[in-house]
Amino acid sequence: MALQIYFSIISFAVFALCTSAQNYFSVNFSYAGPNGPEKWGSLSPSYAVCSNGKAQSPVNLMKTDIVLNKQLKNLDRHYLPTNATLVNNIFNIGVHFEGKVGDININGKNYSLKQLHWHSPSEHMANGCIHDAELHLVHLTQDNDIAVVAVLYKLGDPDPIISQIEDKLVELRKKTRAGNMDDLIALGTIDVEEINRSSHRYYRYVGSLTTPPCKEGVTWSILGKLRTLSKEQLELLKAPLGAEFKHNARPLQQLNGRKIEMYYHPNHLHGTRATQFEYHE
Ligand SMILES: *[C@@H]1O[C@H](CO)[C@@H](O)[C@H](O)[C@H]1NC(C)=O
Ligand SMILES: *[C@@H]1O[C@H](CO)[C@@H](O)[C@H](O)[C@H]1NC(C)=O
Ligand SMILES: *[C@@H]1O[C@H](CO)[C@@H](O)[C@H](O)[C@H]1NC(C)=O
Ligand SMILES: *[C@@H]1O[C@H](CO)[C@@H](O)[C@H](O)[C@H]1NC(C)=O
Repeated sequence: MALQIYFSIISFAVFALCTSAQNYFSVNFSYAGPNGPEKWGSLSPSYAVCSNGKAQSPVNLMKTDIVLNKQLKNLDRHYLPTNATLVNNIFNIGVHFEGKVGDININGKNYSLKQLHWHSPSEHMANGCIHDAELHLVHLTQDNDIAVVAVLYKLGDPDPIISQIEDKLVELRKKTRAGNMDDLIALGTIDVEEINRSSHRYYRYVGSLTTPPCKEGVTWSILGKLRTLSKEQLELLKAPLGAEFKHNARPLQQLNGRKIEMYYHPNHLHGTRATQFEYHE
């Protein structure tokens, strides 16, 4: 009896400690080891689709699986400068928006940008090539249908979006080293106008979230333009993450008969090998 009380005091104390860093303790999946990607489906009944789903992400954008779809519309994005918060999601670094940033329209549905986050290396592969990082812009409808716009990066010139948050990433690194895993850092106004521009080319397929619960029915649009970020920026995005999350790309998933559709701006179609996979605009 005394022992039981002793344990309940301990668990209460642990619980009280954990509430200040809830994210950290509620993440029980990893990218390697016993809770690695091949085990995600068994960590929770709500993660089952991670193992038994048939339409999972990421996938390899192989040119032999890509079909041009002339019905696809230009992926117009209109994002306004908006107040945002830097968040250490433990398994990646993200930016959450408070107000209305902007919408994309897919098949007549409005999806609003809610948050963005980075993975490295890239999760989607371009014709078998892994790139250095991948940005996910997560959009939701009012019914919580999900559409993610993905941007692949290689190392090179600094990325203007990450440049806006570099100081705060340094601050986040310091806080993390001091053990404050739960800290949110106000960013002030963030302008994602760089990704405002419409794309000449994007790849569309229906897949899933790339982290548990791996929910399916996610509409993916992977932009055809390969962007760059600097080595320092990539280091800043990794620095606050634990060793098991510094490499946070889920392995490729089977297409299982899914087609990857390509949008290609009509003005760029003439005389080009339109169905060929290229990472340029
Ligand atoms: C892993 O986390 C999920 C979500 O918080 C939870 O439902 C599940 O019970 C956890 N699994 C284990 C084995 O701790
Ligand atoms: C981004 O879109 C918004 C809304 O349409 C517009 O006001 C703004 O000027 C655009 N920015 C750029 C750089 O195109
Ligand atoms: C999408 O949102 C815009 C403005 O945010 C609105 O003008 C438009 O009617 C909406 N479209 C749909 C299909 O809800
Ligand atoms: C921006 O967000 C921060 C943190 O949530 C808040 O303190 C601040 O008042 C917000 N600023 C505006 C202009 O909404």
